[in-house]
Amino acid sequence: MKLPAEREAVAAACRRLAAEGLVIQTAGNISVRTGDAVVITPSGGVFEELDAEQMTILDLAGNVIDGRHGPSSEVALHLGVYERLAHAGAVVHTHAPVATALSCVVDEVPPVHYSMLALGGAIPVADYATFGTGELARNVVAELERAPATLMRSHGATTYGNDLDGAVEQMRLLEWACTVYWRARMIGEPAVMTQAQAEDVVKVYTERNYGRLSEA
Ligand code: 13P
Repeated sequence: MKLPAEREAVAAACRRLAAEGLVIQTAGNISVRTGDAVVITPSGGVFEELDAEQMTILDLAGNVIDGRHGPSSEVALHLGVYERLAHAGAVVHTHAPVATALSCVVDEVPPVHYSMLALGGAIPVADYATFGTGELARNVVAELERAPATLMRSHGATTYGNDLDGAVEQMRLLEWACTVYWRARMIGEPAVMTQAQAEDVVKVYTERNYGRLSEA
């Protein structure tokens, strides 16, 4: 079996996203790029049950080079990200419930909390197209060339990262941000961060090297 560690990492990420309620049944797909190979979830795989040997391995042209199952129907989306974004090492697509609800309604999710700056600020919504099509892949990749995370009209969400952990954490953060925005909108009109506020946050993050444990 080729790339056992990468296969196991993708399977573990699938089970985690299912356990956290971001994916039900087969509603998502994950891939990791390593060199000129891509480990991707099989089409129709139930996330909570996926294991390493069910993964499919592709080359960057989409040819199956290892695996017993056909790859995700969203191969074009995943390979499109790797083709256009050289730094992308992993892609996560889900139908996370709040992100998906917002994808049916809004044209973007504005930055109402400073944590959303890690998602690029405002979260765009890629135009609708049928799942598994080249058109959907093009619509999503076009948004991801501008922002590290996007909703997909009446469908779900896609994130990417330098590595699998990064892409998964972006998806978890995206669902959290969508939940905050939804709840805030239920209460009233949320304040959208200004450019100056955003710049101040980036400055403090950088000065503090925020996000790492430091010595006392
Ligand atoms: P696959 O099971 O083919 O990956 O499809 C799931 C999905 O979410 C399509 O957008």
